[in-house]
Amino acid sequence: MSQIRGVVLAGGKGTRLGELTKVTNKHLLPVGPIPMVYHPLHKMVGAGLKDILLVSGTEHMGDFVELLGSGKDHKCSLTYRVQDEAGGIAQALGLAETFCAGNRCLVILGDNIFEAPVTGLVSQAGKKPDWAWIGLKQVHDPGRYGVAELKGDRVIGIEEKPKNPKSDYAVIGIYIYPSDVFEVIRTLKPSGRGELEITDVNNHYLKAGRLGYSIIDGYWTDAGTLDSLQFANQLVREKPPIF
Ligand code: DAU
Repeated sequence: MSQIRGVVLAGGKGTRLGELTKVTNKHLLPVGPIPMVYHPLHKMVGAGLKDILLVSGTEHMGDFVELLGSGKDHKCSLTYRVQDEAGGIAQALGLAETFCAGNRCLVILGDNIFEAPVTGLVSQAGKKPDWAWIGLKQVHDPGRYGVAELKGDRVIGIEEKPKNPKSDYAVIGIYIYPSDVFEVIRTLKPSGRGELEITDVNNHYLKAGRLGYSIIDGYWTDAGTLDSLQFANQLVREKPPIF
């Protein structure tokens, strides 16, 4: 049976955090009593994943290696890959092809902070392993995110940061993909913002009738802006996440 590999995406420019990311990487900033990157990492370990790849840019890869080492202090085995330029989430994921070696992957964006464990999504996805799986959460500001349009209990479209969102369901930064995701990524063209978009990957599976979703329990936020970083810290302080 194919295993599931973990991929933490911790590249990107972090420009929305201004002075805070002048000399460090966004994912090394604290969220609660731990660095931000521990959150996705510990969710994966909590879901039973052992082999995890961390993708980041050249500037701070040394800091990640110094912080996390082989992964043994976090009960996992870590591999690192450099994304030369911030060409988008899907481009960063494309770097995981050799690491995944024909297995499925659980991808978590390094700046996503959430309360509930990912075990529910992982076991749901295990029932249809050749599908892609996304997590949804109702938010008050959907235009900041990928937004899923629902008809009944079906997702019928996903738009990236729409001006007029068709629902308030954000597509959060947790995805489970079958091994053919790398073939899908090879077909993508850069978006208006010059990135290979994960939303295009998800829409590919939607059109193919192979996209499942789960509405996640508990709180969720990204932590990529000054406001959301502060909010994430407040949430985690009030109610520590369950890994
Ligand atoms: O937070 C969830 C949202 O994340 C989704 O709803 C959107 O559909 C998705 O596109 C993404 O939106 P953002 O524009 O907010 O993503 P951002 O550029 O902040 O990147 C999120 C993480 O992905 C970041 O913490 C690091 C990683 N990343 C990003 C880029 C652009 C990389 O590793 N490499 C990259 O080139």
